[in-house]
Amino acid sequence: PRSIFLTRHGESEYNAINRIGGDAPLTERGRRYAAALRDFFILQKFTDLKIWCSQKIRAAQTAEELKSLFPTEYWKALDEIDAGICEGLTYDDIIQRYPNQSADRERDKYHFRYPSGESYEDVVSRLEPVIMELERQGNILAVSHQAIIRCILAYFYDRPLNELPYIDVPLHSLVKLTPRAYHCDSTVYKFNP
Ligand code: F6P
Repeated sequence: PRSIFLTRHGESEYNAINRIGGDAPLTERGRRYAAALRDFFILQKFTDLKIWCSQKIRAAQTAEELKSLFPTEYWKALDEIDAGICEGLTYDDIIQRYPNQSADRERDKYHFRYPSGESYEDVVSRLEPVIMELERQGNILAVSHQAIIRCILAYFYDRPLNELPYIDVPLHSLVKLTPRAYHCDSTVYKFNP
């Protein structure tokens, strides 16, 4: 059976100071995760693994050590949810500057669209071609972002849309999905880089 591996990028400079979005590089710890991921896939001995990476710097740096070993493609559709006017802010900044939007998001996180940005619903529609392709492919590792992986997991786990934005996808963990006839097996590998 083939497997779909999903991971967020390693810790970025923005993760370390709680800022959302942006295009920050990895921290030292994030780079150690990239190295651990490379070692993991070397041990797995896949001959036919393909890597799909977002176009953000933090994701590209996470895949950097793997790209000489496996064919790698960079998909804009795997970029993190666009937080529009909130890009680069912390959640505290957002509450301070945009209390109404903040409350709206809490009420209906799936449909809330960041001004000049996206909602989870928007992300689900931009991921449609990615998911269709994932269904057809063999072994894939997707290196992407929290909101994106939530949407992909909700599809394979068949989770309701109102729960989708709350699926737990911590940094430095790797999910392995193995699609079966009527369900999907999953294993989570946790790293402590
Ligand atoms: O904080 C990291 C991050 O990937 C942000 O870039 C993104 O806006 C956020 O997580 C998505 O999570 P939530 O929808 O829970 O804010």
